Amino acid sequence: MSQPVTSEFTDFVTDKLDLVEEELARQAGADTPFVTEAANHIISAGGKRFRPLLVVLSSQLARQDPDDTGTVSDQDLVRAAVVMELTHVASLYHDDVMDEATLRRGAESANQRWGNSVAIMVGDYLFARASEAVAGLGTDFVRLQAQTFARLVQGQIAETRGPQPGEDPLQHYLDVVADKTGSLISAAAVFGGMVAGLPQTQLAVLRRFGEEIGLVFQLADDLLDITSTRTGKTPGIDLREGVATLPVLLLRASSDPADQPVRDLLDADLSSDEALARALEGLRASHVMDEARAGIRSRADRARSELAALPAGPARDALAQLCDEVVSRSS
Ligand code: IPE
Ligand code: IPE
Ligand code: MG
Ligand code: MG
Repeated sequence: MSQPVTSEFTDFVTDKLDLVEEELARQAGADTPFVTEAANHIISAGGKRFRPLLVVLSSQLARQDPDDTGTVSDQDLVRAAVVMELTHVASLYHDDVMDEATLRRGAESANQRWGNSVAIMVGDYLFARASEAVAGLGTDFVRLQAQTFARLVQGQIAETRGPQPGEDPLQHYLDVVADKTGSLISAAAVFGGMVAGLPQTQLAVLRRFGEEIGLVFQLADDLLDITSTRTGKTPGIDLREGVATLPVLLLRASSDPADQPVRDLLDADLSSDEALARALEGLRASHVMDEARAGIRSRADRARSELAALPAGPARDALAQLCDEVVSRSS
C-alpha cells in the first residue's frame, strides 16, 4: 500500500520541526531566569518529538505529491505541535515526581535537581503555556486538549491506584496505557488533521489511528524499560515502582510452574540494584518477552490498517513507516 518516503517530503517535515523547536524554547521562557531554566531543562534535553511529528504528518494528508506545499499556515501548524509537546513535557515533569525518577531524556530529572515542589510547579507552568497557545487555535482545539489532559491524568491516577478488586490486571494496564499515552498521541494526530481542515470522517480515522499507535508506542516503551540501557531513563524503574507492564502481566497470568522462579525474582524486594538486575535478567530471558513483542506487532498492524481510509500520498506513507519504526524500537 505505501511507498518509500521521498527526501523532499522528509526535508519539508524537518523544516517544520525546526520551527517547532524554536517556538518551544520561546514558550518555555518565563518571568525569571530560574523558571526559564527549569522549564527549558527537559525541553532542551531532547526527546523524540513524536507528538509534534504526528501533528506535522497528519497536517499534510491532503497533499498529493511531494512538491505540493499545501495550504496549512505555519503559524497554526507550529502552534498545534507546540501545544502537544508542551502538554507532553508538562506530564513528564509530573510523571517523574510520581515515579521518583532521577533521569529523563538522559539528563537529571527536574525533581532530582530541584525537588518535587519545583518539578510539579514547572509542569503546571508548561501546561499553562500550552493552554495559552491552544487558545489561539480556537475552541475546538481547546476542548480536545482539555478532554485529552483529563483522560491522561485519569490514566496516571488509575496506574497509581492499580487494579481494583475484581478488575482484570491486563485490561487495567491496557486501559491505563490508552488513557495516559494513547489519548495525547491520538490528539496529536487529530490536531494535525484539524489545522489542515480535514473532514470529520478523516479526523475520526486519525483519532483511531492515534489511539492504536499510541498504545503500541507505550507498550514498546515499557518493553524498553526492561531491555535497554539507552533510553535516557533508568532501566527497570517500572519494576521497582511496582508498575506491572505487559511482560510482567503475562508472566503473572501464566500457570506454567517453570515460570515460578522468575515470578519469585519479580516479587522480591527490588530496592537494591543487585535484586533489580537479577529480576531484569530473569525477565529478559523469559518467553513472555517474545509474546509481548508479538502483541506489539499485531497492534501496530491494526494501526497501519486504519491508514487505508486516509488519502494516499507522502504523509500517509510516512505514517505507515512510523508504525514500523515504533515496533522496531522494541525488537
Ligand atoms: C515518554 O514519552 C512517556 C511515554 C509515553 C512512554 P516519549 O517516549 O515520547 O518521551 P520523549 O518525548 O521522547 O522523551
Ligand atoms: C508516562 O508513563 C506517561 C505520561 C507521562 C503521561 P511512564 O511513567 O510509563 O513513562 P516513562 O517511562 O517515565 O517515560
Ligand atoms: Mg515514568
Ligand atoms: Mg509513570
